[in-house]
Amino acid sequence: MDTDRLLRGLTDFLRIPSVSTSPSHNDDCRAAAEWVAGELRRLGCREVQFLASDTHPVVWGVGPDVPGAPTLLIYGHYDVQPPEPLDEWTTPPFEPTVRDGTLFARGAADDKGQVFCLLKAIETSGRPAVNFRFLIEGEEEYGSRVLFDLLRREPGRTRADAVLIADMAYIAPRWPAVYTTLRGLCYAEISVRTAKSDLHSGEFGGAAPNAHEELARLLSRLKTPDGKVHVPGLYGSVKRPSKRELATWKRLPFKEGEFLKHRVQAKALTGLKAYSVLERLWALPTFEIHGITGGFTGDGAKTVIPAEATAKVSLRLVPDQKLKAVERQLVAAVRRLAPKHVQASVKFLHGADPATVQVTHPAFKLLDQAFREVVGRGTVPARAGGSIPVVPALGKGGAPVILTGIGLPDDRLHAPNEKLDLKQLWDGIQVFRRFYELLGTEGVKGQRQGTTLRNDVEERR
Ligand code: BES
Ligand code: MN
Ligand code: MN
Repeated sequence: MDTDRLLRGLTDFLRIPSVSTSPSHNDDCRAAAEWVAGELRRLGCREVQFLASDTHPVVWGVGPDVPGAPTLLIYGHYDVQPPEPLDEWTTPPFEPTVRDGTLFARGAADDKGQVFCLLKAIETSGRPAVNFRFLIEGEEEYGSRVLFDLLRREPGRTRADAVLIADMAYIAPRWPAVYTTLRGLCYAEISVRTAKSDLHSGEFGGAAPNAHEELARLLSRLKTPDGKVHVPGLYGSVKRPSKRELATWKRLPFKEGEFLKHRVQAKALTGLKAYSVLERLWALPTFEIHGITGGFTGDGAKTVIPAEATAKVSLRLVPDQKLKAVERQLVAAVRRLAPKHVQASVKFLHGADPATVQVTHPAFKLLDQAFREVVGRGTVPARAGGSIPVVPALGKGGAPVILTGIGLPDDRLHAPNEKLDLKQLWDGIQVFRRFYELLGTEGVKGQRQGTTLRNDVEERR
């Protein structure tokens, strides 16, 4: 493997600031899509298209035909999260830099580095007997709306014997994983208005309502210090993991103390103390405040009573919660908690249902074998706290959705100094290369091409 050449290729991809949430980067998203399309052409795709290209294009590719071979749909995303705060990066986010065997850049692990890994595993293998399909989107970090529309319009396009997604991490160094659930997400803006316009805090202070104060009070009632989310009905459809599953989590290489000290790097963990940290991260809903705007936040001082304040918040959802129900519950909770003199509103930005995947399909055995051969340990089933909005929709056709990844838990996704250990990448290329080979030679028993015998992903709607 010519690792220098590969690294140059990945560096070109990472240099493109394809931040999907910010319109000023639309051209960059397009450039990243072009980069992916170029790679797919190099892989011999006979059909490479930009779908739904009025927004960030979904890159679609159809690999060379191998009659009778299984069809594998590879999903990933070329968009990245905003890199701010910039001054916390040791080297700039879009100037990929290797230090000590580790590649630092926005997107190194989430997800450009992993998309790169899946593609290069094909390039470096001698034409595996697999019918590849590629679906690499540019709006994952912002809700995947275009892709949802596309899958609804053309459910047949993505039909496959298996779907492969590498957008996650090992659960610990040397411990590769496959994921059995993803949390869903309900992202919203909660706004309060207290007066027609801002007021002088000398003239009116002491007698006029303050939007920031009202918002702070409302938010602090939505989640109390014990970690309980006070949205009536929210916990009603939460399914507790079985005793057996909880017992298997105890055997995973995860220590709460180490998680606090090395990963969270705070003074204490928070949340519902009656549940283990893994259960809080994987199997319970959350409520987080992402940022609050309104009033005066510029340089210097201004004495004003703000008339409006907005908080960006999100709830993570777990099986068997449903996005639509949680949206209704949140609106009702905000209405109930806001005092009469406050006009409160909720606007939903995006969301996703939680996903559940059964990892019993034969394709999982092949991946397990590939990891075992290359890194010396097979995949452990685990759950994930994060979300990939289209997973329930991708599983709807009945194909197993293989959720895995080559990252490590300390890759700092969405944060400054995101990284990918190069050893993980080089191993990953070998792992997926072997997986494709096994898929081509062994097939997925019990399945004929293009048919699906069982529904492996339950959509939690
Ligand atoms: N790759 C992540 C999802 C992920 C992270 C899964 C860690 C498992 C562990 C993905 O790119 C992501 O960040 N998704 C967003 C989705 C949202 C913006 C709709 C998320 O989870 O916040
Ligand atoms: Mn991702
Ligand atoms: Mn992400």
